[in-house]
Amino acid sequence: MSPVPGIMLNNGQTIPQLGFGVFLIEPQDTAEAVAAALEAGYRHIDTAEMYGNEREVGEAIGKSGLDRASVFVTSKLSNGCHRQEDARRAFDQTLEALGFDYIDLFLIHWPLPMRYDGDFVSTWHTLGEFYRDGRARSIGVSNFQPDHLRRLYAQSDIPPAVNQIEVSPYLTQTDLRRFCAEHQVAVEAWSPLARGGNLLREPAITQVARDTGKTPAQVVLRWHIQRGDIVFPKSVRPARIRENFDVFDFELTGDDIASISALNRDERTGPDPDTFPG
Ligand SMILES: NC(=O)c1ccc[n+]([C@@H]2O[C@H](COP(=O)([O-])OP(=O)(O)OC[C@H]3O[C@@H](n4cnc5c(N)ncnc54)[C@H](OP(=O)(O)O)[C@@H]3O)[C@@H](O)[C@H]2O)c1
Repeated sequence: MSPVPGIMLNNGQTIPQLGFGVFLIEPQDTAEAVAAALEAGYRHIDTAEMYGNEREVGEAIGKSGLDRASVFVTSKLSNGCHRQEDARRAFDQTLEALGFDYIDLFLIHWPLPMRYDGDFVSTWHTLGEFYRDGRARSIGVSNFQPDHLRRLYAQSDIPPAVNQIEVSPYLTQTDLRRFCAEHQVAVEAWSPLARGGNLLREPAITQVARDTGKTPAQVVLRWHIQRGDIVFPKSVRPARIRENFDVFDFELTGDDIASISALNRDERTGPDPDTFPG
């Protein structure tokens, strides 16, 4: 039995709350990293066309001997492919690269309000085709702000199942997460460790790590999980891959969560979705 809770999406599909992200893993290292993640117990992989490693993700899943149905896989539409014909071709290529006949979740990677005449709604309609024909079991968005989501609600009858956004103790996203909760959109927190580094040396986090006998990274991942978000930390190191999965045998107190949340400084590691690419 997996220790990872399932989160029910607004269309009835279930996604494992903890997964494995493969951004910035070189294609030649990806199959090995994904194999280590599957071995550690992860059953949810987050990739994207832009990461250039979908083929290797599919290879590792194929070689694992696991049923395709037991692994939840997400990919995302590249920024250069928002026009209808390009999006259709890109989605076909994603399935071909992964070696799958369906994907669990397909996202618009960025809203790009300053490109394509700001028309991400037409792109959303194209993803709706993949959802209706069953090749995408769920569809969603990434890096969408409340105004972007409101436009989808007004102009489409398919609500996004998830919004994948940057969230960490340095960027707690209180307003956007509340908006998503009010609209039954699951939040996926990307760069949950703020890419490692300074965050993991914050006294508010190292103190809780000492108190609980866990590592700073485990404390941060637990903070996300107890807030209800979906996370998929990335690592190329098998020991860290296992460490990041081992977060279901302890609990943070309300005070722990509050002291970690107080680290918020609205600081992004990635670009601002309202202006990207400027
Ligand atoms: N939708 C989007 O626009 C978007 C943008 C960015 C990311 N994402 C997704 O979110 C996933 C995670 O984000 P991310 O990769 O940017 O950042 P992250 O998971 O917050 O951090 C990854 C970094 O932390 C290090 N690390 C991992 N586990 C650690 C541990 N236990 N202790 C210390 N350091 C550790 C890794 O180094 P090593 O590899 O050397 O261990 C790596 O440098 C991505 O892989 C991708 O799937 C989505």
